[in-house]
Amino acid sequence: MSIKIAVANVKGGVGKSTIATNFASISAMKGKKTILIDTDTQGSSMAYREARSDAAAQFQAVAIHTPTVHKDIDAFNAEHVFIDVGGRDTKVFRSAILASDMVLIPLTPSQFDIWSSEDTFTIIEEIKIGHEDLTSTLMLNMVISGTNLSDEVHQILNDFYDKYKYHLFKNHLFHRVGFKESISQGLSVVEIKGDKFKKASDEILTLYEEVMSYATENK
Ligand SMILES: Nc1ncnc2c1ncn2[C@@H]1O[C@H](COP(=O)(O)OP(=O)(O)O)[C@@H](O)[C@H]1O
Ligand SMILES: [Mg+2]
Repeated sequence: MSIKIAVANVKGGVGKSTIATNFASISAMKGKKTILIDTDTQGSSMAYREARSDAAAQFQAVAIHTPTVHKDIDAFNAEHVFIDVGGRDTKVFRSAILASDMVLIPLTPSQFDIWSSEDTFTIIEEIKIGHEDLTSTLMLNMVISGTNLSDEVHQILNDFYDKYKYHLFKNHLFHRVGFKESISQGLSVVEIKGDKFKKASDEILTLYEEVMSYATENK
C-alpha cells in the first residue's frame, strides 16, 4: 500500500520543505521505498536531496513543474510519497493535491499567518469537489517553547475546525534551531549527530508517527 501526502500551503515560510524533507528522510531510514516530489519552483527539497550524503538512507527526489503529478505518481511505485507543494494557486499545485491521499497543511501559530493560509483552504475545498476522499489535516509548526498558544490562536483554529472540519494533529513542532542547521547537510534532525538536535529529533519522530498512522487509518 502506498501513502501519498502533500505538504502544502500557498503561504511561504511555514515549514513545508522542512517537514517534507525530514519526513522523507525518516521514511527512508525506516527502509520504506520513498519518493520526495518537489513542485515548488524554489526547489528547496531538490537542494536538500543534492546536499544529502551518500552515507545516509537514500530516497528518490524529482521536481515536477507541470500539472502532471496526479498522472505520474503511481508510476513511481513508492511506499511513501511526500510532495512539497508551495507557491501560488497554480495547476501544478492542484495536480499535486489531486495526486495525494492526504494534505498536511503546516501553520505557524500567528494570527496573520493563519489568516493568510485560508486561501489554501479555499483551493482545497474546490479540489475536494470530485475528490471527496482527500483527507485534510493541519499541524502547527514553530511554536515557541515555553509559551502557551494564545487564546486567539485557539479561537481561530476552533473556528476553522467548525468551518472546514480539518483534523488538527495533537503533536506539533517547536521552534528549534536544529532544523535550520541540519538542512544544509541534507540530513534530517533525526540523522544528524549532536545533543542539540535531540529535542527536535524526538518531536519530529512523534509527529511523524502520528501523521503516518492517521494517513494509514484514513486511506
Ligand atoms: N520547527 C522549526 N524550527 C525552526 N526553524 C524552522 C522550523 N520549521 C521551519 N523552520 C525554518 O523556517 C524557514 C522556512 O521553512 P521552510 O521549510 O523553508 O518553509 P516553506 O517550505 O513553507 O517555505 C526555514 O529557514 C526553516 O529552516
Ligand atoms: Mg519550501
